[in-house]
Amino acid sequence: MQIAIDGPAGAGKSTIAKKIAATYRMTYLDTGAMYRCIAHCVLNQIGDHFDNEADIVRIARATVIRFEDDQVFCNDQDVTREIRTPLVSRHTSDVARIKEVRELLVAQQREYAKDHAVVMDGRDIGSVVLPDAELKFFLDADVRERAQRRKKELDEKGNGKTLEEIKNDIENRDTNDRNRSEGPLIQVADAIVIDTTGKSIEEVYEEMKLHIDEAHR
Ligand code: DC
Repeated sequence: MQIAIDGPAGAGKSTIAKKIAATYRMTYLDTGAMYRCIAHCVLNQIGDHFDNEADIVRIARATVIRFEDDQVFCNDQDVTREIRTPLVSRHTSDVARIKEVRELLVAQQREYAKDHAVVMDGRDIGSVVLPDAELKFFLDADVRERAQRRKKELDEKGNGKTLEEIKNDIENRDTNDRNRSEGPLIQVADAIVIDTTGKSIEEVYEEMKLHIDEAHR
């Protein structure tokens, strides 16, 4: 079985995808973490030079990404925390718009799905990576609420950003993700759309479970 979960930043995709994967004994693949790894490697290796596509593609080709439970490894280095910084978040959309980078990561994601029952979350899972997935979800939420959720997460890590700054970051990332020519964030026609505004993780999870159980009846 393959389950695709797409949607904008902060819609709750990864938390719910992990819960669904655990319930149905499936493997969770966080595709956003893969794009984040490439941005992190670029920052480490050539610094803030995100206009240099050739170097970014070279770095992406040489980067080996591996997941172990909740940890993410990039060329055998544990980058679980580093890839979540606001700097990496901001630059991830710079690498995610490059065609060659997307082709490379999409190929790895499909390869992974070949021999695992997967729950994958991202932006282009239902449209590009797993167009034949049995179930496709599109999770959305009001931008202010998404910013509030992100602020709570960041505050726990000692973040000093205001709600307005976080909301602007999210809106910029959404605009980049929706408007790029390669693998843009889109809601495919066969996706089940869930607006998570005002809903708890538990409520969304239960709603999705109904659909999954229905599909397997
Ligand atoms: O889901 P996330 O916030 O970890 O994603 C980080 C960035 O990567 C975000 O700007 C969108 C991009 N991304 C993408 O382009 N395609 C995916 N399948 C997953 C994430």
